[in-house]
Amino acid sequence: MMADPRIREAAVTIPVYGQLPFVPVRASGCDIYTRDGRRILDLYGGHAVAALGYGHPKLVKAITEQSNKLLFQSNAVALDIRAEAAEKLTAVAPDGLERVFFVNSGAEANENALRMACMATGRKKILAITQGFHGRTAAAAAVTWNSERWYGFPSLPFEVDFIPRDDVAAATDMIGDDIAAVIFEPVQGVAGAYDLSTDFLRALRELTAQHGALLIADEVQSGVGRCGHFFAVQAHEIKPDILTSAKALGGGIPCGAVLCSHAMAANFGTGDLGSTFGGGPIAAAAIAATLDAIEDESLLTNVRSAEAAIRNQCVVGPVTGIQGMGLLLGLKCDRPALEIRDALLEQDILTGTSGDPTILRILAPLVLESRHIDHLAEALREIVPATN
Ligand SMILES: Cc1ncc(COP(=O)(O)O)c(C=O)c1O
Repeated sequence: MMADPRIREAAVTIPVYGQLPFVPVRASGCDIYTRDGRRILDLYGGHAVAALGYGHPKLVKAITEQSNKLLFQSNAVALDIRAEAAEKLTAVAPDGLERVFFVNSGAEANENALRMACMATGRKKILAITQGFHGRTAAAAAVTWNSERWYGFPSLPFEVDFIPRDDVAAATDMIGDDIAAVIFEPVQGVAGAYDLSTDFLRALRELTAQHGALLIADEVQSGVGRCGHFFAVQAHEIKPDILTSAKALGGGIPCGAVLCSHAMAANFGTGDLGSTFGGGPIAAAAIAATLDAIEDESLLTNVRSAEAAIRNQCVVGPVTGIQGMGLLLGLKCDRPALEIRDALLEQDILTGTSGDPTILRILAPLVLESRHIDHLAEALREIVPATN
């Protein structure tokens, strides 16, 4: 047997990731099979990426066929498959978001969204929300809460301030005529699946409109069906001016997108934005197949019933409450969530931690079945509640 890849990676990569104590060799549905013969139920989905689980036949077929036909061409040429992906994405997006710009990741999507907002408004101040996370490139990290931790550049690209989350009075004070945009995650993923209130989100919508500022919904983690709607803002009936998507968008193939209105798109011409790999044929085929599967297999309904079952069955053992939406859930634990993650992993269930030390994150594939939820509930019951 070859040496452990953890040792090989440690010798030749920059050591920035804390890695889990198993080595996957293949995966199918919601299960990961490890090198040492374990089968692990994956409720973390590779950071909310594996929307269709693993080895989904439609997704595998779409990317295999596309690889055989045309593996890559840039945006210098138009492609049927890119047009198809854009048509399907705009068809499921919130009303009024009819244009797409394809990129490769969540941070790149936010970087472009923020740039578009500054260009379109001619303003240079951005408001974000406390505890939010938007990525690790310059503009995305600048609007991430605790940016001293995430931001590694000598100076910020624009002025930034943070609205305390769910504080409508603060939003009213802070959103003025100097603001280019307010960026928010409808459900704050890294913060522990904290779902912002409808009142707060509607106030952001009204205030930005009043002051000529743009509203940017970062749906990199909450979108593509994860919250039981194609995009979480649809649950609140909010129409942002710009929406960013990535992670689950290609079901595991790297891709991202910035969506906006026809009117917003009219601010930009040839050369204003660009990305070599954005909207490449494999990514486009993956986006089209992922969106088709969500629709054809009624996965939004599945997510909503899975959420209801988890809320019903999983406030047991160390779990004292649940926040979040759909399959972006934060399980509040009676002790550090890391201890619960490790105890569940010993029982062959993979979950995630979050920025909140007491919140365990569930980012399960949208194809989750009730037997998986039974398994989670049973495993949680095995973990004895902490005594006060
Ligand atoms: C809400 C949100 N925005 C942006 C990002 C950054 O995405 P990426 O890692 O693809 O750059 C993340 C990643 O966790 C995220 O959760």
